[in-house]
Amino acid sequence: MYLQEEILILDYGGRYSQQVARAVREMQVYSRILPYVTELAEIKKMKPAGIILACVSEDGPGSGSATDVPRPDKAIFELGIPVLELRPELAEGEQGEELLRDFLFNTCQVKGSWNMDNFINWQIEAIREQVGSARVISGLSGGVDSAVASVLVHKAIGDQLTCIFVDHGLLRKGEVEEVRRTFGEEFKIPLIYVDARKRFLDKLAGVQDPEQKRKIIGEEFIRVFEEEARKIGDAAFLVQGTLYSDVIESSGDGKGVKVKSHHNVGGLPEDMDLELIEPLRDLFKDEVRKLGELLGLSEEIVWRQPFPGPGLAVRIIGSIDEEKLAILREADAIFREEIRKAGLDREIWQYFAVLPDIKSVGIRDEQRTYAYPIVLRAVTSTDAMTAEWARIPHELLERISSRIIREVEAVNRVVYDITSKPPGTIEWE
Ligand code: XMP
Repeated sequence: MYLQEEILILDYGGRYSQQVARAVREMQVYSRILPYVTELAEIKKMKPAGIILACVSEDGPGSGSATDVPRPDKAIFELGIPVLELRPELAEGEQGEELLRDFLFNTCQVKGSWNMDNFINWQIEAIREQVGSARVISGLSGGVDSAVASVLVHKAIGDQLTCIFVDHGLLRKGEVEEVRRTFGEEFKIPLIYVDARKRFLDKLAGVQDPEQKRKIIGEEFIRVFEEEARKIGDAAFLVQGTLYSDVIESSGDGKGVKVKSHHNVGGLPEDMDLELIEPLRDLFKDEVRKLGELLGLSEEIVWRQPFPGPGLAVRIIGSIDEEKLAILREADAIFREEIRKAGLDREIWQYFAVLPDIKSVGIRDEQRTYAYPIVLRAVTSTDAMTAEWARIPHELLERISSRIIREVEAVNRVVYDITSKPPGTIEWE
């Protein structure tokens, strides 16, 4: 293990434990969340500097008043490790911060040396140790997680790493060029670019059903990736941008966090027999962004909004073809540019254009038109589980609408989606 001191947070349900974990990390102390049912023997073996019981409410563990909430095993207080019981109402504001600080630095006597620079050094050592002289492959998606994970691994093992970038033809305007420039030219990471656009479009031709589209894309992606990986031959490891939030998951059944199983290896077939390298599995999303910045990745990549694996395919309603993709790409690029120019890009969780499968009547240059509408979708959210439609200023919507209609000939109408999640989903398919 590459970390000297760590605080163990035992989770008694709810999302509160994540809040505590982050507060501890902000004080430069590494923290890890485990479910409250974790065996005492396992806890002992980890030798944490301290244990925090993240209780749900006043009736939490140890209060003795509630019967339906889990209670800590009394033996936990007899391990000779400092234990702090923390409840949301205790941990609020300055007082809570003081309490936590006192526990960490006075009671547990930690030094507080956990920061991103140290994390990078620890990870580099750990990756070198894990990999030895073997070859490693990594799949780039254009997203922040796979990008940061790959750059970090490259920093550790250099050209033992090869990145594979499958272009399924469903990415946004400029994305392919940006990934190739960043990895191939800027970071000089060996990069295999696979132009699989035709393959995917052929498979998707005439397919209307959203689930069917997702299935086709997922399966084809595996196939292409596997073909390329086999060409490299002797790769023994695969980099995955798994985050801490993927690893822990509040189960909501009162048993606290459970660990998600990750056998699907991002959808790769098991017979490839690749061992995983997951250098981000201890980090929260904002920590990954910080790490990306430290590693020198551009702001565009580090602050990229979430983008679904099946890409624009789930933003074109009904069947997909080159023409529709081109229309959507242009409209989406205008929307993104205007949001960025207005300085709203970090405030809004996701903002994108959708192309419905209908046409309507309009007028252009005194001529009747019969063309596509574009739907603008923008939501604020913290975790994509729920979302509010973003209150974009009307003047900005006006500007976006007239630009799209002026610049994208196949579009004659722009509408704004004012549905929150629930009942709507963020994506349209
Ligand atoms: P929904 O549409 O379910 O989306 O409200 C929630 C979040 O998940 C993203 N999303 C995906 N991400 N593969 C992904 O990696 C997918 O197939 C996929 N579908 C939806 C969506 O963009 C939003 O952030």
